[in-house]
Amino acid sequence: MQIRQANHEFNFGSYPTFGHNIDPKQRAWIEVRGKALESNVRQLRSKLSKNCQFMAVVKADGYGHDAKVVSEYAIKGGASQLGVATLQEGLKLRSVGVKKPILILGNLYTKKDLIMSFKNDLMPTISSIRECLICNNVGKHFGLKFSLHLKIDTGMSRLGFEYNKFAQQFEKIKSFENISIEGLYSHLSSADELNSLDPKSITQLQRQKFQKLLKQINLDKNKRIKIHLANSAGMLLNKDFHFHMVRVGLSMYGYNPLAKIDKSLCLKPALFLKVKVAFIRIIDEGVSVSYGGKFVSSRKTKLAVLSIGYADGVPRSLSGKINAIHHNKLYPQVGSITMDQMMVDITGSDEIKVGSTMLLLGSEGDKTISPIDWARESNTIPWEILCSFKNRLPRVQVD
Ligand SMILES: Cc1ncc(COP(=O)(O)O)c(C=O)c1O
Repeated sequence: MQIRQANHEFNFGSYPTFGHNIDPKQRAWIEVRGKALESNVRQLRSKLSKNCQFMAVVKADGYGHDAKVVSEYAIKGGASQLGVATLQEGLKLRSVGVKKPILILGNLYTKKDLIMSFKNDLMPTISSIRECLICNNVGKHFGLKFSLHLKIDTGMSRLGFEYNKFAQQFEKIKSFENISIEGLYSHLSSADELNSLDPKSITQLQRQKFQKLLKQINLDKNKRIKIHLANSAGMLLNKDFHFHMVRVGLSMYGYNPLAKIDKSLCLKPALFLKVKVAFIRIIDEGVSVSYGGKFVSSRKTKLAVLSIGYADGVPRSLSGKINAIHHNKLYPQVGSITMDQMMVDITGSDEIKVGSTMLLLGSEGDKTISPIDWARESNTIPWEILCSFKNRLPRVQVD
């Protein structure tokens, strides 16, 4: 009998291109709801002081939703500026045709990066005289003014000019002829804490410090420098935090960072995490499920194997702590979450079949599972849950 040997030569060109049109909903995927984003932005804007602008924070690929889609719908909802974390994120938005002002919230410190941001009309955040000087030189070189925002540290101890030295440094910055100060801002460290309305809270002290400094530097009103301080939590606290612009991320995506719910706001989640049932099995009582045998069935149990795991961004620390929704019913996840799959106890359901879709995050009927629930169970914050979803999960836009 002749045995055919595998041909190990790398000749990929000879393979037919199966798989190129693979269905994004074949395994697990993220549904991104543009209309929900747009409606959230509209609602949040209705809470703003008059003339206060809305910057949509779309860093980390729009908190995992897809920055291009988020930007498009946030702008439809009335966002007038966008905030990204990195030069690359800004360049990506420019390359897909986004025209609105974009602020880079992270720090650019090399001349090369600052030139790149200048050439692509991306405003850097400036935290030192050294960076101001580079920007001024870049502006001078091109015979133009380099638009940028200055940041002041009022208590976050991350980026920003040192609070006590800023007033003096500002005098010098004002003399730079080739920069245009478009904004002046600071960032709140603790606005989502329960005590944020307490006059002695970190948040109120940060606001007071910021306002004191604004008085001290006596801003030229004609220059229309935008003052901004608030993230989602700060903006929802009250109007004292609004100034000329707010920088909003989490609440635009549909989640309230404050424990107290504003009943007049009806934020809708823009991200639905869906997964297909890849296999169904029935196990007897006393059978262990998944790595480590941490779950042992207490009765005859019907299991659905879902094709999603920690390599998709579902934290393994959520093992045994989450549910999946099918037709408005909750089914508990059991056993350790594995790299690519997880098991759900569907005992009693005749509806769920191989190929059925289950919902891990989002709403169906009167059931909702939010990244806030996942964060509570895995001892983290909803921001981290949203930013953890990997590229292996296709983003599917639905309106
Ligand atoms: C500087 C800055 N502004 C605004 C935001 C938006 O925050 P949030 O998602 O809480 O609205 C962030 C996010 O971390 C940020 O770093």
